[in-house]
Amino acid sequence: MAETKLVAIAVVSSNGVIGDGNDQPFKFPEDWARFKRVTQDHALILGRRTHEAMGLLPGRTSIVITRHPERLSFPRREDGRPHGYAVSSFEEAVAIETGDADDIRFVAGGGQIYQMAWPHLDELDITEVHAEAVGSVRFPEITADEWREVSREPRGEFDFVRYVRAAC
Ligand SMILES: NC(=O)c1ccc[n+]([C@@H]2O[C@H](COP(=O)([O-])OP(=O)(O)OC[C@H]3O[C@@H](n4cnc5c(N)ncnc54)[C@H](OP(=O)(O)O)[C@@H]3O)[C@@H](O)[C@H]2O)c1
Repeated sequence: MAETKLVAIAVVSSNGVIGDGNDQPFKFPEDWARFKRVTQDHALILGRRTHEAMGLLPGRTSIVITRHPERLSFPRREDGRPHGYAVSSFEEAVAIETGDADDIRFVAGGGQIYQMAWPHLDELDITEVHAEAVGSVRFPEITADEWREVSREPRGEFDFVRYVRAAC
């Protein structure tokens, strides 16, 4: 896994809110279609709460972080590989071999998992929404000290923005 990039993918409101309880404040069909396209054939690292809200997605493996891995079980994919794994730490989530494409491993939330992944992330793939949201779950602050914007694709109500970690 030495060459694998860790990329956080998230929909973030202009005030940093990404969720309220188990709900996500914004659901844009174009963004969801892009999420599925970009993450296809890759493994996703998720918190247990986000996993329960999102379920398993075809064509990608969920690596679910929980303090109780023994409580989760996963069906097999068509090719016989497990559709998911339950792990008890971020380090384990990064290290586990899943058989998916290993150029990128996506960190797909929620708030607790973005926070624990933050020092380890290589890139951010953010759907930046041009509106505030109400909620208690926030994305870590993206500062110019730490992150350099490398592309921005305006799509009306939101932009698709990619950041890479700024050189020290
Ligand atoms: N806007 C977006 O792009 C986006 C994306 C994803 C999610 N969300 C939103 O984010 C919210 C969910 O985020 P959340 O922060 O509440 O939950 P979360 O990050 O999805 O999951 C939290 C769970 O992760 C496990 N966990 C946390 N720290 C751990 C540790 N140190 N060791 C082992 N396991 C640990 C615990 O599972 P156990 O309780 O099983 O131990 C904990 O309950 C929802 O509102 C969702 O809609 C938004």
